[in-house]
Amino acid sequence: MPTAANIRDDILANPGFGRYFSDHMAHVRWTAEAGWHGHEVRPYGPLTLDPAAAVLHYGQEIFEGIKAYRHADGSVWSFRPEKNAERFRRSARRLALPELSDEDFVGSLKALLAQDHAWVPTPRNEADESSLYLRPFMIASEKFLGVRPAHEVDYYVIASPAGAYFKGGIAPVSIWLSSHYKRAAPGGTGFAKCGGNYAASLAAQKEAEKHGCSQVAFLDAAENKWVEELGGMNLFFVYKDGRLVTPRLTDTILEGVTRDSVLTLGRDEGFTPEERAISIDEWRDGVASGDIAEVFACGTAAVITPVGQLISEDDTIQMPDAGNEIAKRLRGKLLDLQYGRAEDTHGWLTRL
Ligand code: COI
Repeated sequence: MPTAANIRDDILANPGFGRYFSDHMAHVRWTAEAGWHGHEVRPYGPLTLDPAAAVLHYGQEIFEGIKAYRHADGSVWSFRPEKNAERFRRSARRLALPELSDEDFVGSLKALLAQDHAWVPTPRNEADESSLYLRPFMIASEKFLGVRPAHEVDYYVIASPAGAYFKGGIAPVSIWLSSHYKRAAPGGTGFAKCGGNYAASLAAQKEAEKHGCSQVAFLDAAENKWVEELGGMNLFFVYKDGRLVTPRLTDTILEGVTRDSVLTLGRDEGFTPEERAISIDEWRDGVASGDIAEVFACGTAAVITPVGQLISEDDTIQMPDAGNEIAKRLRGKLLDLQYGRAEDTHGWLTRL
């Protein structure tokens, strides 16, 4: 008879991404009258929602993604959780949801980990990037079909052991350039981490898969010219002369915690970070002239993943097959920090 611990060990040996969940979930309730209250950690399981709950009709929802890493001494750490807490509040403001304090956000991660510590995988070696992916989310649970901000809201954190996000690990990914679909428009919700942005990207994702690509690159909605992001990841361009360029933050781009960390680590490594608008023509011409040496995607789930090619209806931008050494170097630096193999000189780790 397999025990719960045996089953957990089997899952942790090969977790994949987002398929398995730990034993508990954290929960805090909010009502317009009482504010945040009822902090608890309870067994993981289905939610009971009224069929008229606002989230099911109008998508009033936000979420976060953050990982817990086990260090060699067995301790468990998260990476810059206050950045996620801050972004969660920005998302909340845009979706007219109540704001959660840093204390409640980080406190909920700690409370869940106090129960589910054993669900944080122990990496077998330096190439093993397994972790416990934490997914905080907030939903409008009020039973009401009028279109207005809900007066009853629930916040949860669930946890899912995670290996590499892409099946091929750090093998370069193929990206589809959507010529028709747009992810975000100025004044919209692009900068917020809300389910609606991801739902709106799925038709383009289907198109990508039809063309053998695992992700979609989105251009801006106004001019169909400027590179924005992949929908679930930010993009970086490595220039031969040492510039590390990423699209500047606008209200149509999600401010990634990994993006921000790569800018700092890149500077530490002697690169010149540039946050500015970059056009699809600059990408095409830069690769053709050899000025752009590498392109990579980054995010909490994907860490840093090289881009191998960008396919569109008109053409394919084929990235040079030169080993993606810079992406690998920055990825190594980031993972060394997250797994406690390098000194945390930026003060980015918080013990859970
Ligand atoms: C993350 O990187 O945490 C995300 O939320 C992206 C999603 C594609 C898994």
